[in-house]
Amino acid sequence: MYEGSHAEEKGTTRVYAAVMSHRWPDAIVDTPLANSAFDYATFYTQELEAKKQNKSYRYFNSINRLAQEFPKAHTDSTDRRVTVWCSNDYLGMSNNLEVLEKMQSTLKTYGSGAGGTRNISGHNKHAESIEGTLAKLHHKEAALVFTSCYVANDATLSTLGSRLPNCVIFSDSLNHASMIEGIRHSKAKKIIFDHNDMADLELKLAAFPRNTPKIIAFESVYSMSGTIGKIAEICDLAKKYGAITFLDEVHAVGMYGPTGAGIAEHLDYEAQASGHYRGTVMDRVDVISGTLGKAYGCVGGYIAGKASLVDYIRSLAPGFIFTTTLPPAVLAGAERAVQYQRQTTTDRKMQQINTRSVKTGLTNLDIPVLHNPSHIIPVLVGDADAAKKASDLLLSKWNIYVQAINFPTVPVGEERLRITPTPRHSKEMQDYLLMAMDDVWGELGLKRTSDWLLSHGLGGENPRIEKLVASLTTEVEPLWTNEKLDLPARESRPVQRASSSG
Ligand SMILES: Cc1ncc(COP(=O)(O)O)c(C=O)c1O
Repeated sequence: MYEGSHAEEKGTTRVYAAVMSHRWPDAIVDTPLANSAFDYATFYTQELEAKKQNKSYRYFNSINRLAQEFPKAHTDSTDRRVTVWCSNDYLGMSNNLEVLEKMQSTLKTYGSGAGGTRNISGHNKHAESIEGTLAKLHHKEAALVFTSCYVANDATLSTLGSRLPNCVIFSDSLNHASMIEGIRHSKAKKIIFDHNDMADLELKLAAFPRNTPKIIAFESVYSMSGTIGKIAEICDLAKKYGAITFLDEVHAVGMYGPTGAGIAEHLDYEAQASGHYRGTVMDRVDVISGTLGKAYGCVGGYIAGKASLVDYIRSLAPGFIFTTTLPPAVLAGAERAVQYQRQTTTDRKMQQINTRSVKTGLTNLDIPVLHNPSHIIPVLVGDADAAKKASDLLLSKWNIYVQAINFPTVPVGEERLRITPTPRHSKEMQDYLLMAMDDVWGELGLKRTSDWLLSHGLGGENPRIEKLVASLTTEVEPLWTNEKLDLPARESRPVQRASSSG
C-alpha cells in the first residue's frame, strides 16, 4: 500500500456512495425510526460493493504450496498442480531440511504454543536465542522479535512517534501499510516525501528545528516496484537534521549482503565480508526491521538497534507486550534459517541469476518489465480488470500462479503482475512462463512496452505513469553485479526489446 492510498480509497468510496443515490449518509441521518438499530449488514454489503466497483475488492485463490514439490502447489483440487511464481518465500527456505528438522525436534520437545505473552509464560530460550542471532546479523546491540513485521513496524513507530515529545515522522511515499498504520497510530505529525527524492526530503526536514525529534521511515527494497531506498543519503540527512532512521529491510533480509543482512549490508559488501562494520551504512542506520516470513520461510518479525531503544520498545509497545509469543518451533526454525543463510550465498545468487534471465526473457518479448536493481519483477498492466484477467488466464490455461497487484496496494493505473523467481525455478519452468506470458499478452491484447512508449512520453498528464513508462526502457545495474555473482563483466547496453507483436 502506498501513502496516497488511504485518502484515495476513502475518496473513491465516498464518490461511489454518492452515485448510489446518497444512501449513506442520508439513510443514517433520516432513520425513520429513531430507535431502530443501525443496518450493519447493508452497510457491509454496500462497502464491499463499492470496493468491487472501484476494483479494490480482493479475490483469493486456493494455493497450497507443496514442501516436497517446491515451487509447485495444488489448487482447491489436490490433483491439480500449478507453479507458483509470486511467493515471497524467495529462497525456498520454507522447506529447507535443516529448518524442518529443527522445527520438528523443537515441536516434539516444547509443544505447539508459547503459552502466553513474554511477560506471563512465553519468554523462552528460543526467543532469546534468535534475538541474539538477529542482533549479530545486523551488528546491533540488541533485537526484539514480534509476531510479524507488520506488528514490529506498527508497534515500534507508533510507540516512538507517540512518546518522543513533538515527534515528526518523515515517510517515503511508497512505504508499506505497516509503517503507514504505525505512524497513524502514533498521532505524530507525518510528512510524506516523494519516493527516494532526497531534495524533497531535505526541504521538509529543514523546516523543523534540529532539536525536534524526527524519524525518517523508509524501506530498502520497495516490494511492488523493486526500487531501492537511498540508505546512505538518508543517513547523511538524518545526521544533518538531527533525525533517527527506521529502515524496513523486509524484502532484503536473507537476499542481499555477504551474510544476508540486507541492502544496508550489501552496500559495503567487501568491508562487511571482511568483518569491518564500524562506519558502514548498516552501522549508521538506527533501527532495522525485518521479517522471518519471506526469505527465511517461517513467520515473525523483528527490530534491531541500540540496546536502550530495543529495551524501550520491549517495555512500552502494546503490540509487543500484549500478545502471545511465537511458538518455540517457529522461533527455533526461523533462527536456523537465518543461520543457514548467514553461511551461504548460493541460494541468493541463484535467485538473482534466475531473476535476470526472466527479466531478459520478458523484455525480449516486449512485455513491459519495470526495470529495477532488485530481485522483483513488476510487469506493468495498467488496468485492474486486465491485471486480474491476466492472472486468471495464467492460472486456468497455463497452471501458473501470479497474483494481480491492484489498488490500494499500487495506485490506480499502475496495476501490475509481480513475478518473484526463486533459485528452484528451472530453465524449463522459466521458458514455460515466458511462453505463457507472451500468449496471455496476445490473447488479452495487453499493452506491450512499445505500445506504452507510443502512448506516453509526449508530456502526458500523469507524471507518475510517465516515470513508470520511462523505467520500461532504462537499463539498471543490478545490486548483485556480475562481479558479485562471479560472472564475466557486463556489457553496457540498452534494454533489448523486440518490436510489438500485439
Ligand atoms: C515492506 C514490508 N514491510 C513489512 C511487511 C510485513 O511483514 P510480515 O509479513 O512479517 O508481517 C511487509 C509484508 O508484506 C512488507 O512488504
